[in-house]
Amino acid sequence: MTSSQLDKKSQAWSALFSEPMNELVKRYTASVSFDKRLWQADIEGSLAHAEMLAAQGIISGPDHAAIERGLAQVRAEIESGGFEWKLDLEDVHLNIEARLTQLAGDAGKRLHTGRSRNDQVATDVRLWLRGEIDLIAALLVDLQRALVAIAEKNVEVILPGFTHLQVAQPVSFGHHMLAYVEMFSRDAERMQDVRKRVNCLPLGAAALAGTSYPLDRERVARTLAMVDDQGAPCVCQNSLDAVSDRDFAIEFTAAAALAMIHISRLSEELVLWMSQSFGFIDIADSFCTGSSIMPQKKNPDVPELARGKTGRVVGHLMGLITLMKGQPLAYNKDNQEDKEPLFDTVDTLKDTLRIFSELVGGITVKPQAMETAASKGYATATDLADYLVKQGLPFRDAHETVAHAVKAAISHQVDLSELPLTVLQQFHPGIGKDVYDVLSLRGSLNARNVLGGTAPAQVRQQIQRHRIRLGS
Ligand code: ARG
Repeated sequence: MTSSQLDKKSQAWSALFSEPMNELVKRYTASVSFDKRLWQADIEGSLAHAEMLAAQGIISGPDHAAIERGLAQVRAEIESGGFEWKLDLEDVHLNIEARLTQLAGDAGKRLHTGRSRNDQVATDVRLWLRGEIDLIAALLVDLQRALVAIAEKNVEVILPGFTHLQVAQPVSFGHHMLAYVEMFSRDAERMQDVRKRVNCLPLGAAALAGTSYPLDRERVARTLAMVDDQGAPCVCQNSLDAVSDRDFAIEFTAAAALAMIHISRLSEELVLWMSQSFGFIDIADSFCTGSSIMPQKKNPDVPELARGKTGRVVGHLMGLITLMKGQPLAYNKDNQEDKEPLFDTVDTLKDTLRIFSELVGGITVKPQAMETAASKGYATATDLADYLVKQGLPFRDAHETVAHAVKAAISHQVDLSELPLTVLQQFHPGIGKDVYDVLSLRGSLNARNVLGGTAPAQVRQQIQRHRIRLGS
């Protein structure tokens, strides 16, 4: 086949076809418009494959050199924007190979020895995704650092802690922020775990059954740094599985969806807290937008949009899971549909993490508003019950007694701490003057000095732990 013939895709795969491809079918089946994004991984994988072919004596040294030169040229053309992507050549793999063949002649045509687009695309996606996971891991660290910083500034700030969105108990605002740090640290762990399974080499599986050439798959894996923690090469051990499963992409998207879900929870809180009814925080103007009709409006569009984009990523997860369901072994063209959801998941997550690290740094906390709200909901009722337990009452009885006290306070429209001692003593004679320390928000906060609790002393220890863990 001459290199000009390779320009015609129908001939690129086989002389078997006597009719040109239907135009609509060509557009329907082509993936180059989106998979050209994999070009770097495609070249990296080809270079590793060619190096191994030469080392194994499957191609000659001069052919290997010509392939390296040609691929360097292709890389330069793509980087400068001068590369002409052709729909006729279907996908990123055939586009690059065709240009290489124009540049390197027969050597270019030897690159595909012992390889199929099936193991090639699986390799490319894994290489690309591995790089993206590393970027995402760094962004997750940035976000955690930003949250630790705002936590540290607000350890002593009292926020009404909610259950069922009803005031429950006072908590440190710092403690609340660190809850998100825990979530994002688990997201980072999940990414690292997924990375291990992404970082495994399909090349050598060829179309589905392996190949008759004496390939050294472990050599290729080492060249591509597809190695485990001990530096041992990771090679997919079954050719049928290697070319066909996309569970690594599904796992990644599941981890990404969880990270987005955590962002959406934080978003929801930011939106609530910024509303006039709460007034707990302000978000920097540069992260908000106005209304075209209501001049007074400042809207928290960024967290709202992040909440919305979470749906999109969860949707991609559903798409990918469904894509895999019921697929017979081995490769099926269905798998071409893995790319757009995967790409969009990566883009959405990266943008969202980036913007949130900055947004968190620009939050203004309003301690007075938070404290006032915390003092309204009988948030220290549990503390009164605990006080009675210390007097010897069983907890269930103490709970009942305090419920009566809260009822009385509600009917007088006052807080528990505003009931006179004589009134409190009607509920239990053991109540003394020291009860008022217990009924204060700060007393309640300080009392929760248990590992993982909201007492400022505990929160400071956690901040210390995170700082060491995050290296900041
Ligand atoms: N563009 C294809 C994909 O993304 C590459 C593999 C094509 N293989 C094939 N046998 N048609 O899956």
